[in-house]
Amino acid sequence: QMSDYWQATVTTPVNIAVIKYWGKRSVSLNLPTNSSLSVTLHQDQLCTTTTAQCSASFEKDRLWLNGKEEEIKPGGRTDTCISEMKRLRKQYEEQYEDSHAVSTWHVHLASFNNFPTAAGLASSASGYAALVHSLATVYRLPYTSTELSLIARQGSGSACRSLFGGFVAWDTGVNEDGSDSKARQVASEDHWDDINAVICIVSDEKKGTSSTTGMQRTVETSPLIQERIRLVPGRMEEMERAISAQDFDAFAQLTMKDSNNFHAVCLDTSPPIFYMNDVSRAIVALVHEFNRVSIGQKRGHRAAYTFDAGPNAVIYCLRRNVKDIVNMIMHYFPQAEPFKDTYKVFYAKDTPGM
Ligand code: PMV
Repeated sequence: QMSDYWQATVTTPVNIAVIKYWGKRSVSLNLPTNSSLSVTLHQDQLCTTTTAQCSASFEKDRLWLNGKEEEIKPGGRTDTCISEMKRLRKQYEEQYEDSHAVSTWHVHLASFNNFPTAAGLASSASGYAALVHSLATVYRLPYTSTELSLIARQGSGSACRSLFGGFVAWDTGVNEDGSDSKARQVASEDHWDDINAVICIVSDEKKGTSSTTGMQRTVETSPLIQERIRLVPGRMEEMERAISAQDFDAFAQLTMKDSNNFHAVCLDTSPPIFYMNDVSRAIVALVHEFNRVSIGQKRGHRAAYTFDAGPNAVIYCLRRNVKDIVNMIMHYFPQAEPFKDTYKVFYAKDTPGM
């Protein structure tokens, strides 16, 4: 007799924070010391596609990343997300007296990024979000994105924000069990659809200090993180206002300030953590120079850089300014190779000619 076999495939985009998550108040539950806010990129830019299968004939849970099998460590973050999803499925079977005991089956997960994993771009956000979303789909669970965000968060904090499109906040919450530390959509992609992200791959090497290690060291050693924790609630409010008013000038200023504050906190950590390099700093200078011109013409900021736990830059801008920014990058980084999407993503591996 053939055993039952269920399958679903989902695609989940990467998100890039404009108010950064940095610091955990609980390492085991991935509970943050501050709220954060991000923009979910377009699916054709950077995303993860994950197929989940479950079958009574599978002997264990298995995971493949870009075709290569990865070990699922018992009690690790992937294992936690899978068990949480099985638990939700079991509740559902009990509640609806569903005769398919799918919650007892093992799962196979195959996940592909549409960008090189080696490019040093954070793939954990889209990766864990796709994992949770694919299981919710294969299990036919009627859960909302906010409910699923509670589980994706336990895989990787930033993953909870990738379950929504558009502009997404992750509220710290106050409960010790993390039950209110979840994502919420601030505005849909349609609300402000002419925001673009120009991604500059500055280095394709794997980052030196993982976000988990970095956050722990910051919380333990940086006095400046306390100031950041005081600062962020006000910035969250200002950022939500800027987004609802489609005020790019305010959005850009807050985005750059928050990225710089996050990297200052990393520098204040002992031993210090340097995520940005000389090329990153050259991009910072270029963007400020680009803005100086438009501010002089009373047009306000036209571009905003932001850097995560690595040297790659994401430059947010309105669609009408993409061409000027791409031309500027190509001018100062003539060796940049267009990759994937010719006007959005560039390699700028070497020191700039400036
Ligand atoms: O989700 P994690 O644990 O990889 O942490 C992400 C941290 C930053 O990317 C630096 C900031 C953020 O909010 O995404």
